[in-house]
Amino acid sequence: MKACLICGSPIEAFQSFGSMPLANGFLTAEDFDREYFFDLRVGFCSKCSMVQLLEQPPREKMFHDQYPFFSSTSRLQAIHFERFAEDAGRYLPPDDPFVVEIGSNDGILLRHFAKAGRRHLGVEPSAGVAAAARERGVRTMPAFFEKDTARRIVEENGRADAVLAANVLCHIPYFHSVAEGIDLLLSHRGVFLFEDPYLGDIIEKTSYDQIYDEHVFFFSLHSVQHAFGLHGMEVIDLWPQKTHGGSMRYGIARRGVHPVSDAVRAWFNKEKELGLDNPETYARFRERCEESRRRLKELLTAIRREGRRVVGYAATSKSTTVTNYCGLTPDLIEGISDTTPVKQGKYSPGAHIPVFPYEKFSSPYPDYALLFGWNHKDEIMAKEESFAKAGGKWIVYVPRVEVLA
Ligand code: SAH
Ligand code: TMP
Ligand code: ZN
Repeated sequence: MKACLICGSPIEAFQSFGSMPLANGFLTAEDFDREYFFDLRVGFCSKCSMVQLLEQPPREKMFHDQYPFFSSTSRLQAIHFERFAEDAGRYLPPDDPFVVEIGSNDGILLRHFAKAGRRHLGVEPSAGVAAAARERGVRTMPAFFEKDTARRIVEENGRADAVLAANVLCHIPYFHSVAEGIDLLLSHRGVFLFEDPYLGDIIEKTSYDQIYDEHVFFFSLHSVQHAFGLHGMEVIDLWPQKTHGGSMRYGIARRGVHPVSDAVRAWFNKEKELGLDNPETYARFRERCEESRRRLKELLTAIRREGRRVVGYAATSKSTTVTNYCGLTPDLIEGISDTTPVKQGKYSPGAHIPVFPYEKFSSPYPDYALLFGWNHKDEIMAKEESFAKAGGKWIVYVPRVEVLA
């Protein structure tokens, strides 16, 4: 029996995905026999409502100088973060504000503060992406954010008016150290704005591919309110986002310092209707995942039996869960097209499907493209009109397995 990472209550798995490699562990053939695997199991804490992984690989195995995810590879993400910078700006005092970002990656968000000449600091442990940020003029500290990191930042820079984080809080299992760090770091009226994939969307869309090593928490308003409540903080507002297939941005502040928006009460009720606080919801989710797996495997097997070619589109972190959980091997998917140079020429984690440069996608087009980058669907569909014109078909699996007409 495991203990909940937030409240310490006993917690059991509602679903096991079996043995899984690192979602971003793209590798060469020489490394196949040294590949790292762990048990991907997910549980729901009925005491504090947090959905979480029961095991997570050590952080240095996931976030290091070769970490291959560069935030700025997506054009729409760049636009999204420009807006995030504007939204955060509304919480800043007029006089020389200081902004800290946790998990600042290649500087996709902080560059807007750098450009405006505002005091900022990114905290980013993966040296490769951090170097890309520095090249854009984004001040970056090479570290994992935790309580001690916060202490050092305050000593050297003073307190922050806003702490920002996108797609990183859910990566960090030592939540309490991070929350204490945020408490140390924020000025009295300071706010913490963070966003992550939203549990409600994952449940509604059966997007089980959000479940992988890096995502240790699947947040909801219920669980976020409880977790920050343990540190004298509260949710003051929340804003749904389209990114990563459905995310939620939460505004957190010291209890009683800022007014609480009406949206908070409304979302509490919505989550109750969705059953996010109810264990049965997760048992049903598991059944839908199993059904989705069966259908996808059947569809691909039938297509291959007809001798048609299938390639994967975008070697996303999420695709690692899909290929391994569904047993999709190179006999079903001959390769995965991806625009990220460090992934190209390597093999996908666990399933060992070759990753090839995007330029090869069209020469010649495959019969089917399995859309692993479904969260970037609008951007990709706009870019790939000629694939459809050439008779190519898209296969999607979220929210259900189907061939798009
Ligand atoms: N914020 C970006 C990047 C998300 S990927 C975006 O939304 O696109 C997660 C990033 O967080 C990675 O760059 C990873 O190196 C970093 N990270 C992981 N653990 C961290 C920690 N404890 N503190 C700070 N950054 C961390
Ligand atoms: P993500 O889903 O975790 O954001 O991963 C994005 C991956 O998808 C990254 O490896 C780049 C790849 N990608 C493409 O190959 N083509 C595209 O058009 C887009 C938007 C992403
Ligand atoms: Zn708990």
